[in-house]
Amino acid sequence: MISRSLGSHGPRVSAIGLGCMGMSDLYGPANRAESIATIHAALDAGVTLLDTGDYYGSGHNELLIREALAGRNRESVVLSVKFGALRDTAGGFLGVDARPAAVKNFLAYTLRRLGTDSVDIYRPGRLDPTVPVEETVGTIAEMVKAGHVRYVGLSEAGAETLRRAHAVHPIADLQIEYSLLSRGIEAEILPAARALGVGITAYGVLSRGLIGGHWSKERALAKGDIRNFLPRFQGENLDQNLALVEALREVAESKGATVAQVAIAWVLSRGDDMVPLVGARRRDRLSEALGALEVALTPRDIARLEKAVPRDAAAGDRYDARQMSVLDSER
Ligand SMILES: NC(=O)c1ccc[n+]([C@@H]2O[C@H](COP(=O)([O-])OP(=O)(O)OC[C@H]3O[C@@H](n4cnc5c(N)ncnc54)[C@H](OP(=O)(O)O)[C@@H]3O)[C@@H](O)[C@H]2O)c1
Repeated sequence: MISRSLGSHGPRVSAIGLGCMGMSDLYGPANRAESIATIHAALDAGVTLLDTGDYYGSGHNELLIREALAGRNRESVVLSVKFGALRDTAGGFLGVDARPAAVKNFLAYTLRRLGTDSVDIYRPGRLDPTVPVEETVGTIAEMVKAGHVRYVGLSEAGAETLRRAHAVHPIADLQIEYSLLSRGIEAEILPAARALGVGITAYGVLSRGLIGGHWSKERALAKGDIRNFLPRFQGENLDQNLALVEALREVAESKGATVAQVAIAWVLSRGDDMVPLVGARRRDRLSEALGALEVALTPRDIARLEKAVPRDAAAGDRYDARQMSVLDSER
């Protein structure tokens, strides 16, 4: 497995990380045994970065990861954990809490659920608009000093927030959506991250399955699947976006690769500071995703991919209007 450094301040991790969210939440039902088998297959293939959030399934995802890591060498895995989202008993989102006391409280529960003394990368999943980022990051920095956290990360933060946070404590990586379909970070956020030596863990590299090559208009979505509400999966937007996937498929087939593989390979090709997180929750999807590491894209291939999906070609925003309005990265 090829490895990459998470920026100048973070750990070395596998060039592709496994995002475990869909194994517990937001993408409809998942099979527990297959989820654990997928984590095992990832570790056996050399994946060292596992991404989770304490609010994915309200603790379910951390407990699942703990079970998957039983009997494995904890030191060989980089656990990246998000905190801050508040959930109700039905899974609804109630807001965000990133006050210092909340950070310490969330971390205490996370350590217990994961069965570990320290989290490798700890980050607020979203900024708390009522708490200056300096306070949130300052508290995580205290946890670093106490030995409970190794590195500090951010998620969906804009350039200015990134600079402010980095002035308090070095930021290892910014986790943010980035794909052929979502290139918004290229204007300001990516240059700011690069200037600070902050790595990017890119999520949504398959646009939540939309450009995974296996999506169709006929795919029925379970209750609780967030894609029921994401603009890119609706009506005419979906038609237009799936037409882009067909254009990608042509390029992929000419390379002897799949759509998912060229989409992941494109993100990998954007720089050594990019580590795509893939949301595989089945071994077949994982194996396909890791195959992206074998796809060598030439400058001509990259030009063809960007012609198939021109910048801003996506129909619909990446989140619904309410989320878009509160995302620090979209300000
Ligand atoms: N910081 C944040 O705000 C944030 C937000 C969202 C996610 N994340 C992190 O990013 C991780 C990845 O999530 P994502 O939404 O970005 O996932 P993604 O990889 O863009 O999409 C996952 C979806 O793609 C489908 N897919 C098709 N081919 C695939 C393949 N070869 N490999 C993997 N998936 C394939 C999956 O299919 P099936 O459903 O058929 O399995 C699944 O529905 C999450 O687990 C989470 O850790 C972070």
